[in-house]
Amino acid sequence: MDVHISLIGRHDLAGEIYRQLRAAIIDDRIREGDALPATRELATRLSVSRTTVMVAYDRLVGEGFASARVGSGTFVSRNLRPGQRPRHAPRAVLRARRIWENVPDPTGMWAAVEYDFRPGIPDARLFPYEAWRRLMSRQFRRPEVGSGAYGDPAGHAGLREAIAQHVGVSRGIRAEPGDVVVTNGTQQAVDLIARVLLAPGSRVAMEDPGYGPIRRLFISLGLVVAGVPLDDEGLIVDAIPPQTSLVYVSPSHQFPLGMSMSLRRRMALLAWANRTGGAIIEDDYDSEFRYGGRPLEPLHQLDIDGRVVYVGSFSKTMLPTLRLGFLVAPPSLHAPLVAAKFLADWHSPLAVQAAMARFIADGLFARHVRRMRTIYEGRHAQITDILTRTFADHLRVVPSFVGLHLAALAREATVDRVDEIVRRSSTMGVACLPLSTFASVPSRSGLILGYGAINDLQIADGLALLRDCFDAAG
Ligand SMILES: Cc1ncc(COP(=O)(O)O)c(C=O)c1O
Repeated sequence: MDVHISLIGRHDLAGEIYRQLRAAIIDDRIREGDALPATRELATRLSVSRTTVMVAYDRLVGEGFASARVGSGTFVSRNLRPGQRPRHAPRAVLRARRIWENVPDPTGMWAAVEYDFRPGIPDARLFPYEAWRRLMSRQFRRPEVGSGAYGDPAGHAGLREAIAQHVGVSRGIRAEPGDVVVTNGTQQAVDLIARVLLAPGSRVAMEDPGYGPIRRLFISLGLVVAGVPLDDEGLIVDAIPPQTSLVYVSPSHQFPLGMSMSLRRRMALLAWANRTGGAIIEDDYDSEFRYGGRPLEPLHQLDIDGRVVYVGSFSKTMLPTLRLGFLVAPPSLHAPLVAAKFLADWHSPLAVQAAMARFIADGLFARHVRRMRTIYEGRHAQITDILTRTFADHLRVVPSFVGLHLAALAREATVDRVDEIVRRSSTMGVACLPLSTFASVPSRSGLILGYGAINDLQIADGLALLRDCFDAAG
C-alpha cells in the first residue's frame, strides 16, 4: 500500500520524508516487518531525487526504525523499543449527542451459547451455502456487477421484480416492481420512511412491548416515541396518543408477544390513519413461516388510500448478515424514498441483490423457505408441547402460529423474578430473553423463546434446565 507523504510547501525534503515515515511507523500505520516503498518508486511518486529518499531511509535505519536487506529492500524493524513507540492517543474533545449514550453495542448480544433460545435468529447451519456461493460468484462476471458506475438506488431491477412477485404470491400484496425499494434490512427501510415523512419533533407510536432497534432509531432521528399497549387483538388503536403522525406495527406476528392483530383492529388502525392523516409502517418480518391458523390480510392489502408502507426482510428467510430487506411504497412516496436511499448509501450491494434475484427466480428461495418452515414448525410444536405440559404452573403460552419465536407469560413470577431466572439460566448455557427487555416500562412478566437457532435435539434438555431455574426461584 502507498504510504501517504506530502511534500507540498516543504523545504527539507529528505528530513520531511524521514519524519512522515517515522510517524507512520510509530502510529502503527506501517506495521513491524512491512516493506517500505522501493526508493526508486517513492522518488518517482514524490518527484524528488532517489538520493533524497535514500538519505531519509538511512536515517530511519540509523535510528533503528528500519533495517535494510541487500537486494530485497528496507523493512520496518521488529520489536521496536517502547520509547520508539510513543502512542499519541488524540484528546477526547468531541462529544456525541446524549441520545447515543443509551444505544447498546449489539455485537455482545450474539455470542455463542449452548442452548440458544434467543429470538430472531434463523438456523444458519441449514442455509444452502453451495447454491448461494455459485450464484454469488456468477455475479462477479463483468456485465453482472455493472459498468463501473453506481447502480439504481431503488435496487436491482430483477430483484424488485422478484420481490413484487413474491409478496403478491405469499402475502396477497398487489405490488409493481416500481413500488419496491431494496434496502439494507428492515432497519434501513424504516429509517428511510421516517426521514421522508417526519420532521424532528414529530410523534410516532409503536407497540409496547415492541422492537427495540426501531424504537431507538426513531429517537435518534429526533422523533417523540409513544408506546401503545396491546391486548389479545394486538395494538389498542384507541390508545394511540393525539398528534401521532406515524404508527409502526407488526400485525402478522406482534414482536415480541406473537399474537396476530385482529381484522377489527386492522380496520380500526386504517380508519385512524384516514381520520388523522397519519401513516402506517407494516413490519412483516417473519410471516413466511406460518404453521397454522388463518392468515389475515396485510394492512397494505386493506389500505385503499395509500397510507401504508409495507416492509419485509430476508433476515429470517435467508441470513441477517446479508442485510437485505425491502419496502413496498404507495406511488406518492416512490421518488422521495429512492432519493433518501441514494443519500443514505446510494444503493445496496449489487452483487448480493443480483444473486438474490436469481435465487428467487430459480425457485431456490421458495424451496428453502418450504424446507425451513417444516423444521421450524417441528420446533415450535415441541416447545409449545413442553411448555404446556411441564411449565403449566409457571407459564401461559401466548397462542401464535407464525415466525421464529413464541412468548410465554408468567403466571405468578414478577418481572424481577423472571429477570433473575433468565440470568440464572444463562449461567447454565441456556439463553432466552425476559419480556422486560422489550417494554419501555416493564409491567407484564414473561419469556420470549426463539427456536430458529436451537437444534431439535437440544430443546428438551434446554427447557429442562430452564424449568430447574424456575423451581429454584420458588
Ligand atoms: C420486529 C422485527 N422486525 C424486523 C426484524 C429484522 O430486521 P432486519 O431486516 O433489519 O434484519 C427483526 C429481527 O429480529 C424483528 O424482530
